[in-house]
Amino acid sequence: MPSYAYFKNEIIPLADAKISVMTSALHYGTAVFEGIRGNWNAEHKQIYLFRLKEHYQRLLNGCKVLKIKLPYTVDDLCRMTVELARKCAFEKDIYVRPLAYKSSEALGVRVHDVSDDYVVFIIPWGRYLDVEKARCTVSSWQCPTDNSIPPQVKIMGHYAGNALAKSDAVENGFDEAIMLSADGYVAQGSGENIFLVRDGKLVTPATYNHILPGITRDCTIRLAKNELGIETVERPVNRAELFFADECFMTGTAAHITPVSEIDHRLVGDGEVGEITRKLQELYFAVIKGDNPKYLDWCTPVYPK
Ligand SMILES: Cc1ncc(COP(=O)(O)O)c(C=O)c1O
Repeated sequence: MPSYAYFKNEIIPLADAKISVMTSALHYGTAVFEGIRGNWNAEHKQIYLFRLKEHYQRLLNGCKVLKIKLPYTVDDLCRMTVELARKCAFEKDIYVRPLAYKSSEALGVRVHDVSDDYVVFIIPWGRYLDVEKARCTVSSWQCPTDNSIPPQVKIMGHYAGNALAKSDAVENGFDEAIMLSADGYVAQGSGENIFLVRDGKLVTPATYNHILPGITRDCTIRLAKNELGIETVERPVNRAELFFADECFMTGTAAHITPVSEIDHRLVGDGEVGEITRKLQELYFAVIKGDNPKYLDWCTPVYPK
């Protein structure tokens, strides 16, 4: 089954969607992207695109930061994605990658007076952090602050730092990095938000702690409150607190809810998947596959019913 891209206003095979080596974004990191999952439900014979609108709203917020003008509304972007997913016709989990970028074939560090373009493509995609329990390390690479590269949106250039952190972690035998912000507080993983369980409550860095306000983070907070009656405290988290947590997990569109078993060679709790983490995982997986009727408005079906 081939992958397709929506590129220059038409759907074409992904292999044919090409840009010039002179493209401005390739040189200066001036692009904004999203990562959206479509989750295959074999019983329903359906793929559910998860929280499509929220992802595209965040993309358009990023476009505003980078002065990228797209001729599309959130609804247009959602419609184009459904159309593209139908064309791909996969019957498995998929990943949607929209990218809005500075497209002028010209050199010069700026975001003004450069043209913009947009591409979205879909590929089949399974697990990201391919482990039941992740072993993490605190990275020496810091997250940029709001006054360097705004972390609230997925700006391409931002991810060079995250890639440094991730590679250091993996090459040192860990599964994922935990990045701190410049003021020394815990921020996030290279592609995930982080939660601790302390005294029966969830604790997670606040949105002012230089994090991406993750959509999975938002789902987790809501599911914990509505389904388990568990409160989330959003506040600065000290590095050492990572060692005091009863449970720890990471959240992200790619990583789903991944338990963290070890941080810098210290077990989290007893090193096993904690009870609250396990419950949240079960809830989350049912919700993203369209198996929980209460949360069906988070799921956009790809195929006609
Ligand atoms: C740096 C970073 N933090 C957190 C997240 C989680 O965000 P979301 O749940 O919206 O995928 C991501 C993934 O996109 C990310 O790249």
